[in-house]
Amino acid sequence: MENVCPHAAPQSMYYGTYLQIEKIIDSQAPVSFQDGNEPAHDEMLFIIIHQAYELWFKQILFELDYCSNVFSKEKINDNSEDLNLVRHRLQRVKKIYHLLNQQVEILDTMTPLDFLEFRNLLTPSSGFQSKQFRLIEATLGLQMNNRHHKDYYKRTNEGGFTKDDFNNINEVEDKPSIQQLVNTWLERLPFFDMKYWDDFATNSSENLHPFWSNYREVYKAGLTEREQQKINDFDFVFFDDVSKIESEDDRNGLRNSFSAKGLQAALFIMMYRDFPMFQTSYQILDSLIEIDHLMATWRHKHLVMVRRMIGMRVGTGNTSGAGYLEGALNKHFVYKELSGLSTYLIERRKLPTLPEKLTKELGFYTY
Ligand code: HEM
Repeated sequence: MENVCPHAAPQSMYYGTYLQIEKIIDSQAPVSFQDGNEPAHDEMLFIIIHQAYELWFKQILFELDYCSNVFSKEKINDNSEDLNLVRHRLQRVKKIYHLLNQQVEILDTMTPLDFLEFRNLLTPSSGFQSKQFRLIEATLGLQMNNRHHKDYYKRTNEGGFTKDDFNNINEVEDKPSIQQLVNTWLERLPFFDMKYWDDFATNSSENLHPFWSNYREVYKAGLTEREQQKINDFDFVFFDDVSKIESEDDRNGLRNSFSAKGLQAALFIMMYRDFPMFQTSYQILDSLIEIDHLMATWRHKHLVMVRRMIGMRVGTGNTSGAGYLEGALNKHFVYKELSGLSTYLIERRKLPTLPEKLTKELGFYTY
């Protein structure tokens, strides 16, 4: 055993050791630099940019896992740090996506001819196989059944995932996603408990909760002639009334992952967002919508870059290439029901005044 002097000064931390820099900068091995191949200068950039993306994907997953854990709790206290930290960490995820979207520009300095010098050496590997990218999608709530060309995902042969990655992605998809957890949290919010609303004046005869009866009237009155059908959508989205939306496809287009009850609470939060007590919840919902949009921006930038780089050739990962990416761009939104709530907003000045019992119970007195 090594003889260690008990009085020796503890070894001070060293930058390179702490960050394991050697490991990182020793992890680029361009195939074109190997014996027998013609070195392609831009392969180094190609590797480093992918690695930089993967490091940031790791950080995104770390933040999203924190959010999943909070939303997995049976009860979330609005007055604890939990929701505020979720809000804060989703903001961080957004900032990372802004950076990831800018990074595409660095890759754009590689021309299609530069890429052609080493492209064949990569086949059949592809960004399609990025496990972390799939885990981010699954954690946010992208379901296999809603994926474009879901047959591509089931391949474990060339261009597909390794068995381990495939199983790992499936395990995460089987766990409750942030979308599902947020829906459950929204359903639990007590806004419409009748104990707050028994004095609330409503002149409508509809057999609805007094708040919704009032809101529905105002919404309906604000629709233009061409928008009259929207009241049927409203009744389906918030009250599960299927009587006037006959086709299954139309229903799925309006709402397929959030529940009517969850969307009621989400719309309520959006409408009353200016009240401090709804701010944190509002910012969380807004961040989820924005993350969806930032991911779509990345998909779009990547698609445009791919079109320029390989035209209409198939991808190294054996999909149809640009055609697949375009389908994924259009289809892989997770929070479109939340962003779609804008269809059902009414003007601020027409908003019903909240009952005092509700605002008091939720913790805000006026002195
Ligand atoms: C020369 C640069 C690039 C080209 C030509 C390219 C091309 C492609 C193609 C054709 C696909 C479709 C799958 C296939 O058949 O291969 C794909 C998917 C993908 N690529 Fe790239 N890519 C490039 C750079 C990058 C970079 C820097 C990243 C960063 C991580 C990336 C991440 C991805 C991801 C995550 C997918 C799956 C997208 C989805 O399913 O929505 N790619 N890429």
